[in-house]
Amino acid sequence: MNNFLTEKLSAFQSLETPFYYYDLNLLEQTLTKVKEEIVNKPYHIHYAIKANANSRVLKSIKKAGFGIDTVSGNEILKALEMGFDSSMIAFAGVGKTDKEILIGLKHDIFTFNVESLEELKILDQLAGSEGKKAAVAIRLNPNVNANTHHYITTGLEENKFGINPWELSQLFDLLAQLKNIELKGLHFHIGSQIRDLSVFKNLCNRVNELQKEFKARNISLEHINVGGGLGVNYQEPDAELIPDFKAFFQVFDDFIELLPGQELHFELGRSLVAQSAALISKVLFVKKGIKTNFVILDAGMTELIRPALYQSFHKVENLSKADAPSSHFYDVVGPICESSDCFGKNIQLAETERGDLLAIRTTGAYGEVMSSNYNLREDAKIYFHDEI
Ligand code: LLP
Repeated sequence: MNNFLTEKLSAFQSLETPFYYYDLNLLEQTLTKVKEEIVNKPYHIHYAIKANANSRVLKSIKKAGFGIDTVSGNEILKALEMGFDSSMIAFAGVGKTDKEILIGLKHDIFTFNVESLEELKILDQLAGSEGKKAAVAIRLNPNVNANTHHYITTGLEENKFGINPWELSQLFDLLAQLKNIELKGLHFHIGSQIRDLSVFKNLCNRVNELQKEFKARNISLEHINVGGGLGVNYQEPDAELIPDFKAFFQVFDDFIELLPGQELHFELGRSLVAQSAALISKVLFVKKGIKTNFVILDAGMTELIRPALYQSFHKVENLSKADAPSSHFYDVVGPICESSDCFGKNIQLAETERGDLLAIRTTGAYGEVMSSNYNLREDAKIYFHDEI
């Protein structure tokens, strides 16, 4: 095994574990690839800050010229603090508080991505009381199956997100009445970690159908926002450090029917940042059982909750034994007092011993940002490629 982590092994050995290691060169190469794929197209990216709100990651995103997709007032404030222009900040979420709506209004954000008729009415009232007009994209639930984990599926009727198509006539009535709402576009987001690109083709077809309903009423839309969701290769990260953005955007080139002058917006999160980080952890103990041998790490679900929460797979590598054959099977677990604190069962690794450094790969998205201090553990430490 030889990759951007094995190169850093001797530097890693002198650091206190566990920590997230970020390779911002890889991040910047990924962002460059995205930019190359959308050049000369009416496409715009709002990075989904929920995937990773680390300031240095955000600096790279800003340098790439992307906007931001937010889901809370604090995410809006963080984006502003990092210097993102408010005209490039979208704000989604089924449960925006009045306080959060007022933050968005104060800063004249790009759009409130409105998820219910009631929210639209409240937004109109609050905008009126502030003497503002709220720029809005209506989030529609397209009822398209994302074929991904049910916890990260968002575009089905059974999900809580967006306005359902059968509410459209009520929506049109409301839009005609509300004086402080400026309709800018339509918003969709059907789920995350989508590897089957035909799902996005289905989304395009549904967007085209729904867009006709607006056109039939002479309602003009400056943009369509198709959300995020492009998946990454968790199984073999080194085989695909940069996701196939060409194929992804090609689906939209081929199937979305934009009206003249209309822009297409994307809210990519995971696909931009996931491969750029790994969680590095030390083996505390190797505990031999009758059927199972446990590798017990000093990182746990507090640093990376995805395996415990979604049974998600992250590749585990023994960096200290990079040249040895993967001849042994282990359950790789953390130290937290929860049986779900397990990074993977029956993981094939080189023979592993106390003190070895393990990398848990593809943790740049929904890793650091979802970490917690449960068991009063310390914040995860962070290192960047140019610091060590
Ligand atoms: N736009 C909206 C409205 C979203 O809700 C999301 C993610 C995104 C964009 C970005 O999606 P992405 O490109 O990252 O797939 N914690 C979960 C993922 C939750 C995703 C929530 N929404 C995980 O660790 O897999």
